[in-house]
Amino acid sequence: MKELKLGVIGAGDFSTYHLDGIRKAPNATAVAICDLHEEKAKAQAEKFYVPDYYTNHHELLAREDIDAVTLPLPDQVHKQIAIDALRAGKHVLCEKPMALSLDECKEMIQVARETGKQLMVGQIGRYTPGFLQAKALLDSGAIGELFMIESEYAHDYSAIGGQGGWRVTPEREPIIGGGCHAVDLVRMMAGNPTEVSAYANNKSLTDWPIHDCTLAIMRFPTGVIGKVMTSTGCKRNYTMRSLLYGTKGTIIFDNTSPVISLFQEKFTDNKDFEPFNQQTLEIKIPVEVNNHNFTSEVADFCKCIGEGRDVTTNGVEGASTVSVCLSIVESFKTGKSVSVDYNF
Ligand SMILES: NC(=O)c1ccc[n+]([C@@H]2O[C@H](COP(=O)([O-])OP(=O)(O)OC[C@H]3O[C@@H](n4cnc5c(N)ncnc54)[C@H](O)[C@@H]3O)[C@@H](O)[C@H]2O)c1
Repeated sequence: MKELKLGVIGAGDFSTYHLDGIRKAPNATAVAICDLHEEKAKAQAEKFYVPDYYTNHHELLAREDIDAVTLPLPDQVHKQIAIDALRAGKHVLCEKPMALSLDECKEMIQVARETGKQLMVGQIGRYTPGFLQAKALLDSGAIGELFMIESEYAHDYSAIGGQGGWRVTPEREPIIGGGCHAVDLVRMMAGNPTEVSAYANNKSLTDWPIHDCTLAIMRFPTGVIGKVMTSTGCKRNYTMRSLLYGTKGTIIFDNTSPVISLFQEKFTDNKDFEPFNQQTLEIKIPVEVNNHNFTSEVADFCKCIGEGRDVTTNGVEGASTVSVCLSIVESFKTGKSVSVDYNF
């Protein structure tokens, strides 16, 4: 597998996870980091023994020895810097959400196609052990045929970094910024929803120009129906509790829980013919809690590039998740059902 030299553009909070992921990846070394703020770039360079740092991403991208870059950057600049990197001949691992509009996503996909460079979108849930285990159970037929899926992204943002900054803008609706994780999970399990209907309100983060709670329902070509709830003003522990209802069983899982609950028809006790006392044995499957599995995400990106293969979650995947999120926003703003555009 080819050894890669990587640059990291953005030296804020999540650059730490990217740099740690690169340090642990079997075939990668971080050789340069960039941030508009020199002190941030310098501090991360020192902490992770990265030899060079810059304050202008074009300088980093001009280096011929760099094979690929990761972009832990504010959502608003993903498009431009990803495009600059692709045009400079670098493979790109861009943070989620891919971008805040479909036009931006389409442009990024187009440039990746033109340049032949890989563009991966870091949908971190694709690497969450419990999500992968739930998907394996679903695919194995453990719950029969899926008919309903639900996922929630409940994460209190009132004390989160970024307030007063790039996270607090009307175009960064929570269903796009954080709720994209729940939407992406639903897509990972059930495929692409074709139509969504949604409601939203703003009762908690009242000084934010966004809807801090969103409820969306959706339907899939398979006949499956789904529900995604996002709250960034809720007062509870962070969770992405999710449920898969099948014709022969149910799976309940959560990125913050060390167990997956599996209920199966064959373990239902209804022999006393008391339907309201029916008991189904809960099978508890232990699972590693690792809800930001950057080690696996970055290693996967580097492995795909090193082996000359297509990345796992490419631009079309990232854009599809953004498209569902944007359709949800359109639905709660217009009060109408919205068909999801997957024409990239
Ligand atoms: N995968 C996940 O679970 C997850 C979790 C949190 C955040 N994120 C995403 O990660 C990204 C970064 O989030 P964060 O919390 O690290 O943000 P942050 O604000 O802490 O860091 C962003 C950094 O980018 C720098 N920057 C901005 N414009 C730049 C430019 N043109 N050139 C160079 N540097 C520039 C800023 O100075 C800042 O240091 C966002 O897209 C966010 O949505 C993903």
